[in-house]
Amino acid sequence: MPVANPVVRSALIAHRGASAYAPENTLAALEIAAGLGARWVEVDVKLTRDGQLVVIHDDMLERTTNGRGAVALHDLALIRQLDAGSWFSPTFAGTQVPTFQEVVECALRLGLGLQVELKPTIGDDVETAEAAIPLLRRLWPQGRGQLFVSSFSVRSLCAARRLWPEVPLGLASLLAPADPASLLAEYGCQVLHVFDDMLDEHHLRRLQASGVEFAVAIINNPDRARYLLANGAQSILSDYPDLLTTTSLRKL
Ligand code: G3P
Ligand code: CA
Repeated sequence: MPVANPVVRSALIAHRGASAYAPENTLAALEIAAGLGARWVEVDVKLTRDGQLVVIHDDMLERTTNGRGAVALHDLALIRQLDAGSWFSPTFAGTQVPTFQEVVECALRLGLGLQVELKPTIGDDVETAEAAIPLLRRLWPQGRGQLFVSSFSVRSLCAARRLWPEVPLGLASLLAPADPASLLAEYGCQVLHVFDDMLDEHHLRRLQASGVEFAVAIINNPDRARYLLANGAQSILSDYPDLLTTTSLRKL
């Protein structure tokens, strides 16, 4: 049964922007996602040592920048000097790690829906929400919709709920829980995200029967995407914003 009033009215959320075509979690990744027809993007928000917010996935700088060490042990000024594009392609050399504010403003400018994943370094779960949520609440136009805050961290989600009672929340889980509706209710969440690596038919049927709004990550195969969407998923997260529309995309 379709979800009556879903938070996300789009079959696809561009995972970390157009992360197959641009360095993930950058302004370029959002712009390319929008250019390829994405209506929603997902980004990861993390706290720096000096309490600033940047958009980056990993706890450590190495994979997606030319820096070294933990994001949480560096100040914003240093992180902004790093190159977050060359690891992906020389075309993107000089791309900065964006601030959270830049990303929110970029999503609004591009007319995108936004999934803000609170990505604490384990230990600063509450602090991450306490920095991100008031800023997001100030920047996001009241009544615009097309926004939800997600996390694997229930501590971050509880803090987000305290700071912004009305914002839709999404809980990320590796495995589909035994009772999805009860789990979402326990944390005041509207959406559940699960991972395809851990999703067998039994767990998919359980999600479908629960009636909750759920999305599946990370789907880069169009046939799998269509199967999940036909079997209860409200959306899929994909590195390819054009996964469901392109005719030339190679089967992965
Ligand atoms: O919402 C789920 C998705 O964002 C999780 O994937 O690896 O980007 O945190 P990851
Ligand atoms: Ca994420």
